[in-house]
Amino acid sequence: MSQEQSGWTEVDSALYRELSAVAVPRREEQLAALVALLPFGRDEVFGVVELGCGEGVLAAAVLDAYPRASVLALDGSASMLQETSARLQRFGGRARLGEFDLASPEWRGRMAGADAVVSSLAIHHLSGEGKRRLFEDAARETTERAAMLIVDVVEPARDEAWRYHADVYDMAAELKSRDQTGSGDLYERLVEEEWNFFRFPDPGEMPSPLFDQLAWLRDAGFGSVDCFWLLAGHAVYGGFKSGAESMSDRISYGEALRAVCEQLA
Ligand SMILES: C[S@@+](CC[C@H](N)C(=O)[O-])C[C@H]1O[C@@H](n2cnc3c(N)ncnc32)[C@H](O)[C@@H]1O
Repeated sequence: MSQEQSGWTEVDSALYRELSAVAVPRREEQLAALVALLPFGRDEVFGVVELGCGEGVLAAAVLDAYPRASVLALDGSASMLQETSARLQRFGGRARLGEFDLASPEWRGRMAGADAVVSSLAIHHLSGEGKRRLFEDAARETTERAAMLIVDVVEPARDEAWRYHADVYDMAAELKSRDQTGSGDLYERLVEEEWNFFRFPDPGEMPSPLFDQLAWLRDAGFGSVDCFWLLAGHAVYGGFKSGAESMSDRISYGEALRAVCEQLA
């Protein structure tokens, strides 16, 4: 299945680039959490695969925060890969790019030997069964010390929660629009585009319940699972294959946040 068939088009890529600053609630906190939670020391050598890298913001923050890490950034959108290529050029051989179709089983071998698989706002394009298989493939291909860390929209269990997330999302987006641009115009664009998934569910988007995803991650082999952050139905969650090791020489959340904010400036 091509990316177009899976429902995401170049029009979506352009719209996401225009609106993401406002459309993604506290985007910098979400991405910084992924950077800070990588179970490696600042100067360790490790390899990361990013699924659905978009403009390469997360990949660049990882490469900045961990000077000996390398990243393979995958996406299905030509324009997104072009943006990522420009952003990651300064990292030379530590950054590699590739085109992929998230839903296809064919690229899964590209996670071979990786120490972490990360993804932000992409895997909800897979069905529940697709996510379960992805977690199994990631666990099979990656090293014994690997982690899988995800930001994504998650499916609420009850009507009350759908409404709650929809309301919090609108409030966060309107505040961000006014804060960032001094006007509500970007927020109005979001409303016009019916972007609030929790108010306007879209069949192309298939978030799964957080509880199920944690169980799938654990059953796949990422035995130590947790949710670290959740706002407006957007969650940061993941699993780790090995137990926590020495906490010395880890980068702090503040450092991770600075690395992300530099990319978003
Ligand atoms: C909402 S954007 C998120 C981008 C970036 N990770 C971020 O957090 O800003 C979703 C990304 O997933 C990619 N994507 C969506 N469906 C895909 C598919 N089936 N195969 C490959 N990439 C896909 C899009 O091209 C886009 O870059």
